[in-house]
Amino acid sequence: MEPIELKHPLLEHKLSILRNKKTGTKEFRELISEVTLFLCYEVMKDAKLHEVEVETPIKKMKAQMIDENNYIFVPILRAGTGMIDGIVKMIPNAKIGHIGLYRDEETVKPVRYYYKMPSGIESKEIIIIDPMLATGGSGIDAITLLKEDGAKNIKFLSIIAAPEGLKKMQEVHPDVQIYCAAIDEGLNEASYIVPGLGDAGDRIFGTK
Ligand code: PRP
Ligand code: URA
Repeated sequence: MEPIELKHPLLEHKLSILRNKKTGTKEFRELISEVTLFLCYEVMKDAKLHEVEVETPIKKMKAQMIDENNYIFVPILRAGTGMIDGIVKMIPNAKIGHIGLYRDEETVKPVRYYYKMPSGIESKEIIIIDPMLATGGSGIDAITLLKEDGAKNIKFLSIIAAPEGLKKMQEVHPDVQIYCAAIDEGLNEASYIVPGLGDAGDRIFGTK
């Protein structure tokens, strides 16, 4: 599946502030959350609706609602957790699973350290969230873990993606639809996204 890159002037504007190295922790966190709202809006575009009866102050009507319990959002620790806030603003009853992965600085390969999912991942829609898709290693590993656990319907939400990672992810997991707010030039020798926004985890948590 071809990745979906969102295009919107407001999103472009917010990404520019997010990328700026002078943007501080508070604003960076807020922007991650705001950009996630856009992505969440897009990923829910094909959500199933069911009919309910609602009484407005004027009359009863048939209205449409989403089953919020049908969605499990899975942040990849740590940086993915910075996106939870944006997700639960839109879908307050969404279930949240966690996958702990970090990139080994030497090998640049993902190392697993935590895995905890809500029940029912076989039948629910799983949406992995991580602001950065660089080599694709973490995303690929997270999807593999979830599939091994029975997940069948998986989507991947990232803010900035590198073409190299997107290609690899499509090769290994062609069934997973990827959504992002920007596809950048590529990776540098340290496998950071160029121009990117630096280390998302460090900027969200103020660790550097
Ligand atoms: C970052 C990012 C992704 C991963 C992307 O996390 O949040 O999980 O790198 O790189 P990849 O596509 O090459 O795997 P990092 O490993 O820096 O951990 P952190 O979230 O704890 O900072
Ligand atoms: N992880 C990040 O946080 N930033 C990158 O550019 C690549 C991986």
